[in-house]
Amino acid sequence: TNLLLLCGGGGDEHAISLLSANFFETSLADIDDFNVLRVELDADGHYHTKEGDNCELTNRKQIRFEDQSKVPWPVDYVIPCIHGYPGETGDIQSYFELINLPYFGCDSEASRNCFNKVTAKMWFSALGIPNTPYIFLNEFNDDAITQTEQALDNWGSVFIKAASQGSSVGCYRVDSKEELASSLKEAFSYSPYVVVEKTIHARELEVAAYELDGEIVATKPGEIICAGNTFYTFDEKYAADSQAETKVEADISDELSAEIREYAVKVFKGMKLSHLSRIDFFLTDENEILLNEINTFPGLTPISMFPKMLQNHGDNFSEYLVRNIKAQLI
Ligand code: DAL
Ligand code: MG
Repeated sequence: TNLLLLCGGGGDEHAISLLSANFFETSLADIDDFNVLRVELDADGHYHTKEGDNCELTNRKQIRFEDQSKVPWPVDYVIPCIHGYPGETGDIQSYFELINLPYFGCDSEASRNCFNKVTAKMWFSALGIPNTPYIFLNEFNDDAITQTEQALDNWGSVFIKAASQGSSVGCYRVDSKEELASSLKEAFSYSPYVVVEKTIHARELEVAAYELDGEIVATKPGEIICAGNTFYTFDEKYAADSQAETKVEADISDELSAEIREYAVKVFKGMKLSHLSRIDFFLTDENEILLNEINTFPGLTPISMFPKMLQNHGDNFSEYLVRNIKAQLI
């Protein structure tokens, strides 16, 4: 079986995707049934191999090389290891669906619904899963500023978030009217839709939710503890001197843990996710559980939570991956 490991992508999370791809490579290294070809997608939409050979994925399901002396490589299966655009946004999955190429992870529709913070929140509410109070805006103008000011008055502090970005890109905490308009403008530079959410003072809990042999597994929640900053920023996630501490199992009651896991399974099923996801929650001081967001292709870097939680649950990433891939190729 020829397995294409596609990584990189055009988003701000390009470099993170490469690190996650390393984890896939390591996890597949000892699996004799698979030939793995790692191909990187550049920000400008060009593909190249690790060795720097320019290539493309054709609609005949082949990797064709610019150097025509190289034989095209037929692709049986793809792992779109791309955080943000065009992976988690669902774009590249649409292409695989069009050319009928099986792939790992959520389909185009589920990806898009989760990635866009507006549609995601609509789904959460429709499924009856509590989430943070919010308003949404689709244009940067005086009215948007007024609405955001009102939200700030009501809630004391808000997060202004570009609707279609990951890794806290285009996400700003605003505590006073002075920074409001500029943050709003900045958020709109990343996305045509912006969500303004109430700032929640809460613990950040995350669940790895994934499929194994057709069953949905939701792990015990892990926890992100941010010492330095007011939220888990892009730098805090990945900087070498990150102040954030992670715990693979949060210290919470069994009841809360069970309730969070139930919500995770409910949203995984309800939004029709496939194979993998990391589902992020807030736990407020009043023990209120709020669904924050779903990552349809969570980071798999050495500091990332998904693989740690999966392992802590007693599963082996490599086995989990192989079983899911094989189930699709039958
Ligand atoms: N968006 C990053 C990769 C994550 O959620 O892990
Ligand atoms: Mg995220």
